[in-house]
Amino acid sequence: MKHLVNCLGLIVFILTGFANAYNTPDPAAAKIIANQVCAACHGADGNSTLLANPKIAGQHAEYILKQLHNFASSGTKKPEEIRNNPVMAAMVASLSESDMKNLAAYFSSQKPAPGMATNKELVLKGKKIYRGGIAQTGIPACSSCHSPNGAGIPAQYPRLAGQHTAYTLAQLKAFRSGERANDVNKKMRTIASRMTDKELEAVAEYIAAMK
Ligand code: HEC
Ligand code: HEC
Repeated sequence: MKHLVNCLGLIVFILTGFANAYNTPDPAAAKIIANQVCAACHGADGNSTLLANPKIAGQHAEYILKQLHNFASSGTKKPEEIRNNPVMAAMVASLSESDMKNLAAYFSSQKPAPGMATNKELVLKGKKIYRGGIAQTGIPACSSCHSPNGAGIPAQYPRLAGQHTAYTLAQLKAFRSGERANDVNKKMRTIASRMTDKELEAVAEYIAAMK
């Protein structure tokens, strides 16, 4: 009987070990990779200070994981599962699935630092677009998907608040040109394709100012 109990205990121990390794993300385990690899460009806590590199602190884990999957190059993916970026493709090449899950959990649990906007006039113009859209050209309010305060809505809609203007603007232009096409139902491509440079600049500047 004692043997049986020990044996069952061992089986439970092994099974929980597997469950931990393959299901429950372990943010602490990602800290080493975050410090050694990601920190150079995104900051150790995901609050990148380099304007071309996105802040990923406080971003939803599901969105981070989706992007990491999309960056990974593979010949069998659908077009909307691909996000072309040579730098990030090189980064994800050496990550396992559980590394990616752990990193997503780690960065999403970090506190996002406030962003910085420099042009007040643009911020006001961008605020109008973000909250009310542009009726004449059929642009919906960004807040309807990304939430009024820019925190996003997990799992689908990413957090935007406080993001660097330069990064946001680059992504909006990439959606507009179709260079970034990993928005599953084409929503971002359709929206950005109807917006002018000035409108994109304004909304990107407002996003940087959002807390
Ligand atoms: C050499 C610089 C560099 C390193 C190192 C790096 N990244 Fe990136 N990362 C970038 C750049 C640049 C982008 C923007 C890509 C684009 O423009 O599409 C990016 C984008 C991302 C995004 C998408 C963010 C969003 O808002 O859509 C995630 C998630 C990400 N990186 C996670 C990581 C993780 C996790 C690591 C560590 C394993 C890492 N990165 C290492 C430069 C880097
Ligand atoms: C109908 C819903 C919807 C609306 C409205 C919407 N978005 Fe998005 N947006 C999305 C989705 C979904 C994604 C994530 C795409 C992906 O999976 O990569 C996204 C991604 C983004 C990104 C990329 C974030 C990053 O970290 O790389 C930016 C920037 C963005 N949206 C800005 C805007 C702006 C500005 C507006 C208003 C003009 C807007 N969105 C309106 C659904 C929406």
